[in-house]
Amino acid sequence: MAHAHQHHHEVPHAPAHPHAHAHTHDSGATPNGLPEILDLDAALFAPQLTALTGRIACLAGDDVRHIVDLGSGTGTGTFALLEQFPTARVTAVDSSPEMLERLVSAARERGLDDRVRTLETDAGAGLPGVVDADLVWASASLHHLDDPATALAGIRAALRPGGLLAVAEVDGMPYFLPGDGESGELEARCRAALDGLHAERMPHRGADWGPLLTAAGFSVEQERAEPWELRAPLPEGAGRYAFLVFERVRGSLDGRVDTDDLAALDRLVDGGPEDVRHRDDLVVRSTRRIWMARRAQGDMRA
Ligand SMILES: C[S@@+](CC[C@H](N)C(=O)[O-])C[C@H]1O[C@@H](n2cnc3c(N)ncnc32)[C@H](O)[C@@H]1O
Repeated sequence: MAHAHQHHHEVPHAPAHPHAHAHTHDSGATPNGLPEILDLDAALFAPQLTALTGRIACLAGDDVRHIVDLGSGTGTGTFALLEQFPTARVTAVDSSPEMLERLVSAARERGLDDRVRTLETDAGAGLPGVVDADLVWASASLHHLDDPATALAGIRAALRPGGLLAVAEVDGMPYFLPGDGESGELEARCRAALDGLHAERMPHRGADWGPLLTAAGFSVEQERAEPWELRAPLPEGAGRYAFLVFERVRGSLDGRVDTDDLAALDRLVDGGPEDVRHRDDLVVRSTRRIWMARRAQGDMRA
């Protein structure tokens, strides 16, 4: 771990190697709403996130000193895990310098910057300089990586033997609109259109990571699907969260759903009576799939 301490200071903007950007999807083009969506998601589902990091602690044990947050975004996982493991430090890995900048300033604001370092790289191509991690957390990030086998081999090499990989994936855009009627159908059509759109760029979105983890030499110790749901009265921020998601979704659905659906989506964000920011009948519903996988204790390969 000596080398990791050398980099313990923030080195946020130094690409790990000259090709660090070559294979990324998002680098440099992080849409404006996404950081706030990620932060709101973590705030709204804070109890679920705490329960999840608690279960990770049960599996990972007390002696977790070095954590990797892979595809960290704004640091939702970084901060939840720093709280769960009060003596650990986190290497936050992301291909987007904008995300890492936000993470670093949030860490500073919380007085946690001495426990966080950042690594700007394409995490699909390995984690340069990272070895002996006790825990790798990959939330809503693995599906971004080009080749699961290469990415998982890189994660395994970054973990110490016996170390734990926790993978969380969301099943798609959350449902916000009440009831099973027309609005539910609108959301279902939007989700299907988004699935089609993303399938072109991210073929591993929605993948079953269990067999991929096993094939990569991990032993999968837990696998579960959890409904993460909020119902009225919704916590503050839920309307804003729905607004940002619909705005983002609306922006990518031109030509992918019909004009009636586009108009219905517009009405959800146009400041009028149906605008999700002013409603008290919303829900927030999605399914998180979680895999807990271990690098075998006896796996001594580099
Ligand atoms: C949906 S966000 C999830 C962020 C965070 N893990 C969370 O759960 O809040 C996906 C993140 O993966 C990052 N990402 C996408 N492709 C990547 C790659 N090839 N290497 C590293 N990070 C990547 C994006 O920049 C983004 O921050």
